[in-house]
Amino acid sequence: MVCYCERAMTRILSIETSCDETALSVIEASGTLESPEFQVLGNVIASQAELHAEFGGVFPNLAKREHAKIITHLLETVLGEAKILEEGKGSKKIDDAIRELDREPEAQEPLRDFVKKYTTPDIDIICVTSGPGLEPALWVGINFAKALSILWDKPVVPVNHMEGHISSVLIQELNASKKIEFPAIALLVSGGHTELHKVNGWNQYELIGATKDDAVGEAFDKVARLLGLPYPGGPKISTLADEARQKGFASPVLLPRPMLHSHDYSFSYSGLKTAVLYAARDLGDTMTETMKAGLAAEFENAAIEVLVKKTVRAAEEFQVRSIIVGGGVAANTHLRSELASAVQKIDESITIFFPGKGLSTDNSVMIGLAGYFAYLKNDKQGAPIENIRANGNLKIN
Ligand code: KG4
Ligand code: ZN
Repeated sequence: MVCYCERAMTRILSIETSCDETALSVIEASGTLESPEFQVLGNVIASQAELHAEFGGVFPNLAKREHAKIITHLLETVLGEAKILEEGKGSKKIDDAIRELDREPEAQEPLRDFVKKYTTPDIDIICVTSGPGLEPALWVGINFAKALSILWDKPVVPVNHMEGHISSVLIQELNASKKIEFPAIALLVSGGHTELHKVNGWNQYELIGATKDDAVGEAFDKVARLLGLPYPGGPKISTLADEARQKGFASPVLLPRPMLHSHDYSFSYSGLKTAVLYAARDLGDTMTETMKAGLAAEFENAAIEVLVKKTVRAAEEFQVRSIIVGGGVAANTHLRSELASAVQKIDESITIFFPGKGLSTDNSVMIGLAGYFAYLKNDKQGAPIENIRANGNLKIN
């Protein structure tokens, strides 16, 4: 049956493959840029973290292959979860679609099998991360989105991963009843980024400061490695640091708070990491487990103190009512509590928005949210698929 009435909501399939998570979701979006509404119908994530743990970091070509192997299976799962997977006659354009996957041979056979089994699902647009991230990994999501676009005749919206992290706070556990007021300050803290933005509205971002070297998540991962903890180290450092605080384990050294007093919104994390390296090297075999936990807590204190101080200063300078925190490090409980108490000291009425459970680290729900904003801003058009390219260094706006 063909329905000629335009439905009020937009059903979005979103795809994220910028690093070591293959993530697909189906969301329904409605409303305007000023008052959007979303509902998550399905959300799946396959993490490759264990595979990369061996290398102590993400190995781009391995990530690419793994994304390609699993992506069609995740498509089937997420459409099933959203209850829009229907067996029946598939698209006749399979050969044209497969041509988009020339460089992703592992994805070809599974997609052919999928099309033999299932009809075109009831979605309106496909959103896909186009950067920043690891280009070989990004290309898998992009080429898969292009193949689906040809198969199902749906538009594709390329999405900036960092805009996704900012948008991720729209699906929250905390402050669910409160609305974000613009301008807001957004602190973006992930494995590749440490940035402060003034957010003037969805899709209107002004960078006010960034790291001059390592990202804070990268520092967590590197320090974890120095302390013999497996990749990804952020959550492991955090657990160890919490234990040290609870049990009162002291740090064997005091670490620097890089750029704490600089009169700008810049950050620097490579010196802090090096300070941990020297401390660990100097202590050598004399470092006990309690000293190690104490050192992890001191590192976390130092890393978080700078983030909190600069975010609060930005909130004061720009007189905002809302603070947004996004990216993997937004999952850090010490950051959450320290920022909350620092903000309370300057103005109790400022609201902090963190992403909901599972949405701090990479996911595709956030790509659907930011993609909806891009779609609205572009008069409900996708991009010509031949123009969509992976850009590892893509900047916000
Ligand atoms: O946003 P994300 O999933 O991927 C990137 O876009 O980079 O962020 C991953 C980063 C990793 O560096 C990871 O160690 C860090 O976020 N991370 C954490 C925590 N959970 C993840 N860092 C500190 N505390 C955590 N609880
Ligand atoms: Zn990310």
